[in-house]
Amino acid sequence: MADTLTITDNRTGKQYEIPIQDGTIRAMDLRQIKVKPDEFGMMTYDPAFMNTAACKSRITFIDGDKGILLYRGYPIEQLAEHSDFLETSYLILFGELPTETQLAEWSRDITMHTMLHENIKKFLEGFRYDAHPMGMFLSAVGALSTFYPDAKNIFDAESRRLQMVRLIAKVPGIAAYVYRHNIGRPFVLPDNELSFSGNFLNMLFKMTELRYKPHPVLERALDVLFILHADHEQNCSTSVMRNIGSTHVDPYSALAGAAAALYGPLHGGANEAVLRMLNEIGSMQNIPAFIKRVKAGEERLMGFGHRVYKSYDPRAKIIKRMADLVFEVTGKNPLLEMALELERIALEDEYFVSRRLYPNVDFYSGLIYQAMGFPLDMFPVLFAIPRTAGWMAQWEEMLTDPEQKIARPRQIYTGSAPRDYAAREKRR
Ligand SMILES: CC(C)(COP(=O)(O)OP(=O)(O)OC[C@H]1O[C@@H](n2cnc3c(N)ncnc32)[C@H](O)[C@@H]1OP(=O)(O)O)[C@@H](O)C(=O)NCCC(=O)NCCS
Repeated sequence: MADTLTITDNRTGKQYEIPIQDGTIRAMDLRQIKVKPDEFGMMTYDPAFMNTAACKSRITFIDGDKGILLYRGYPIEQLAEHSDFLETSYLILFGELPTETQLAEWSRDITMHTMLHENIKKFLEGFRYDAHPMGMFLSAVGALSTFYPDAKNIFDAESRRLQMVRLIAKVPGIAAYVYRHNIGRPFVLPDNELSFSGNFLNMLFKMTELRYKPHPVLERALDVLFILHADHEQNCSTSVMRNIGSTHVDPYSALAGAAAALYGPLHGGANEAVLRMLNEIGSMQNIPAFIKRVKAGEERLMGFGHRVYKSYDPRAKIIKRMADLVFEVTGKNPLLEMALELERIALEDEYFVSRRLYPNVDFYSGLIYQAMGFPLDMFPVLFAIPRTAGWMAQWEEMLTDPEQKIARPRQIYTGSAPRDYAAREKRR
């Protein structure tokens, strides 16, 4: 028997057989359900896309109940243990782990594109000294579209690959320049002898030494954090990337929009918000009162809860282990004790347990970033760097999917019925 869903419309007594595929029915199949032939037909109403699949994807798999995250089928734990960010970004973008030759070519391509046009520097210099790094980052990424007008050739596979390379190669430079601008230090050129993360640290932290040598533990920790943040299926910013990309605009403009979505405190801005929350709580003795306010709905426990994960976020587990390694080098972040105590209470408290609220990726990542010397407002930028790989992979998949079209949701209109324009003097 075919997998179908039988719907009876009590208004007409008519029955409809709706095919089920992959545990899903097609919303368009509901359009046939109508009382009169000239009616629009049945729609689904799903604010915030709680239960709507907007695409088919082969990139990332999440099982939120079991706490499983796979990139192209590979468990995140294995990638965090054995891979590095450039290899993982290749996997995410092209579907398979690269051979030695492919990886060498990919790494060379990326290093060949790390330099930024001098005018990008000038552009960044125009920002105020205290501009939020994420505002600068997303503006600079958007501005790149004007430097690479060839990026408009979105149906040329070679051109798409070039833009992927350019973006992945250049976002660390933009992030580093943004940081140096804020602290009033000169921009540092990329050092292509270093790894992707090592070079990023170089562009951020190099002072007067002739050659910057990244600390291997911090370099690896940053690389692992990049692996963990590289993709996360159809989250808000990725959906924005796909939505904007569906208009066929160039990928720089679409990515600026995705970065703007990431900026929000409910998304990539959460790691920054976690640290602000810990600072505000201030000390261990204030934790019970804080938890009380959270349970009363007056506050949110930032870094907790997730739309998809209803168990411990697998990335948070890896980050927690990473934090120990980093703190051995940098010294313990004094906020760690408070974070651990919040987690301990939340994992036992009925409010959090019944709502299945567990630490997410942002709960511990900020503590590591802070220990490594990053100011709080750089945190979302550190999220955007690796997520660029995921955004580009999802953009490519969307563009090459014959089922996709310009994204355009429907609405249920709840406004006025038609009425006549009233002259100004007659309005009350
Ligand atoms: C991630 C997040 C936006 C998901 O939101 P969502 O799927 O829309 O879930 P909801 O907001 O509907 O939350 C469900 C319930 O849990 C509560 N809840 C969710 N996250 C909470 C949090 N961090 N602190 C306290 N309560 C929380 C909600 O108040 C709601 O309770 P209710 O049913 O009594 O009204 C949300 O958990 C959140 O705001 N977390 C903090 C920000 C954060 O860490 N974001 C990073 C995500 S990687």
